[in-house]
Amino acid sequence: MEALGHEIASGLAGGEILALVGGLGAGKTRFAKGLVAGLGHAGEVTSPTFALVHEYREGRLPVFHLDFYRLQAAEELVGIGWDEMLAEGGVVVAEWADRFPELVPAEARVLEFKVVDGGRVVRERG
Ligand SMILES: Nc1ncnc2c1ncn2[C@@H]1O[C@H](COP(=O)(O)OP(=O)(O)OP(=O)(O)O)[C@@H](O)[C@H]1O
Ligand SMILES: [Mg+2]
Repeated sequence: MEALGHEIASGLAGGEILALVGGLGAGKTRFAKGLVAGLGHAGEVTSPTFALVHEYREGRLPVFHLDFYRLQAAEELVGIGWDEMLAEGGVVVAEWADRFPELVPAEARVLEFKVVDGGRVVRERG
C-alpha cells in the first residue's frame, strides 16, 4: 500500500484531490504515508483522525492529509480552512471522504480500498 502511495505521488503535479474510501483498516492511512513520503517528506506520517488535518510542507508539493471519520459536521472542516486547502495547489488526501460527499469537489479522484483474503486492493472509481 505504501508502494502504491509512492507510485501515485510520482504522477502528481499539484491541485489533485484524492478521496479515499473503504472500511476500517483497509489501508488508507498506509497509502497516505507512502504518498507523503513519495513527495519527499522525510518525517513521520500519522493518522489525522483526531487532528482532522495534518499538513506536510517539506516535500515537492504541500500535502493536506485529512480524515473525515470523526468529523461531526461539514462546517468544522470549512472552519479549519478546507476551501483554502483546495485552492492552494497542493495535494489534498481525505480518508473517509464518502462520509461528507458534499465537501468533495466533483474533480476529485476516488480511490476505493478493500480487504480481500487478508490482502489490500485499491480501485480507482470512474
Ligand atoms: N498490504 C497491506 N497494505 C496496507 N495495510 C496492510 C496490508 N496488509 C496488512 N495491513 C495492515 O492493515 C492495516 C491498515 O491500516 P490503515 O491505518 O492504513 O487503514 P485505514 O484504512 O486508514 O483505516 P481507518 O479507517 O481506521 O483509518 C495496518 O495495520 C496494516 O499493518
Ligand atoms: Mg486511517
